[in-house]
Amino acid sequence: MSQRILLTGATGLVGTQLRADLRAAAPDAHLVGTSRSGSRDGTVIAWDMAASSPPPAELAGPWHVIVNNAADVRWTMAPEDALRANVTTLDGLGSVANPNTHVIHVSTAFATGHTGSTASEHLVDYRNTYEWSKAAGERLAAERFARLTIVRPSLIMGRRADGHAARFAGLYVLLRGISSSTIPAVPAASGAVIDMVPVDDFTQFLRQLALGTAPAADGEAGLLDALPAAGAPRVFTFANGPEAPLVSDVVPAMVDALNAWRAERDLVPFGQPKLIEPDAWDRFFLAFAREHLTARQQRSLDLLRAYEPYLQLSEYRPATHVVRDVLPSITASARYWADTFPRLAGMPLRPWKAKAETTEEATV
Ligand SMILES: NC(=O)c1ccc[n+]([C@@H]2O[C@H](COP(=O)([O-])OP(=O)(O)OC[C@H]3O[C@@H](n4cnc5c(N)ncnc54)[C@H](OP(=O)(O)O)[C@@H]3O)[C@@H](O)[C@H]2O)c1
Repeated sequence: MSQRILLTGATGLVGTQLRADLRAAAPDAHLVGTSRSGSRDGTVIAWDMAASSPPPAELAGPWHVIVNNAADVRWTMAPEDALRANVTTLDGLGSVANPNTHVIHVSTAFATGHTGSTASEHLVDYRNTYEWSKAAGERLAAERFARLTIVRPSLIMGRRADGHAARFAGLYVLLRGISSSTIPAVPAASGAVIDMVPVDDFTQFLRQLALGTAPAADGEAGLLDALPAAGAPRVFTFANGPEAPLVSDVVPAMVDALNAWRAERDLVPFGQPKLIEPDAWDRFFLAFAREHLTARQQRSLDLLRAYEPYLQLSEYRPATHVVRDVLPSITASARYWADTFPRLAGMPLRPWKAKAETTEEATV
């Protein structure tokens, strides 16, 4: 029997790239993709894994491998929404896996929250409901699936060479904010690191795990076992580790890429946003902003709030599989974003001023 692989979250950033990778590397495999809404062309089957209804007949097993990418990645969810998206979905998956299925569960390098572990059930031990729900998802997966590999990537951006991304989440919000002149400054501790991996580096690792050709952890020789031992979940972290770039290098690289794109269109460049120490940001900048800035500028700052914890990490994520040299792919990702949203990327520069002085007219 050819290898049967079920991929959830197949329409997302990771799932779209992984589907293409698996098709190219294993054309003979029986690969089925599923997502909450399915795809318009019908090649991805619709299935809301958090709903109580049984999965569609096409998803009946047996599956050799299930790669579980499905998740809601927003950092601002209400607790019940986060649990439904990132924990209840595993109940649904339980009905299509059997004890011999290799379940590859995609989590996040940040599922260990503030404590460095996924053990805590308390929201206060995590930066947000997303991390908290992903930790709960890991705990439930370990109970439910006999042959389990948990993979924790750090923040995911576009493809290494061309920046291509099927969806834009996470730090793309900075690009949006800078382009719309609503983020004049970024709250980042000096020396803060940020950990980001290109989506195709990550899907290469997932594909290798699914096909039994994944490399052992850094510093160890050979390949990982194709199938984890029963009852002994494996956990891998796919991240920059000690190679993580500084926020103070990443933000300028993004803005430079955006400005290079603008220069090709004879548009005025954006200035580099100032990096402000978190303490000064909270005490002075936000206090000023609340009093003087326009509603639109304040909405943008509210959006940025969710990102602040990820711009203030003084220590790098320990990684079993270290992803190096990511700055060029940050540039490629910013450029791809600009190509995808040319109206936003090409917006006129609007100086950041207090409400009384601000006109809604674009000012160059
Ligand atoms: N993006 C990142 O920076 C990042 C970083 C670390 C870890 N991760 C992890 O990587 C995995 C993939 O993330 P991603 O960025 O590719 O996410 P994404 O682009 O937001 O895609 C999420 C996918 O999950 C599906 N989904 C959501 N809720 C579902 C439900 N109730 N039932 C069935 N399918 C559902 C979506 O289907 P529809 O499109 O039909 O709604 C979509 O296909 C997730 O486990 C995430 O936690 C992501």
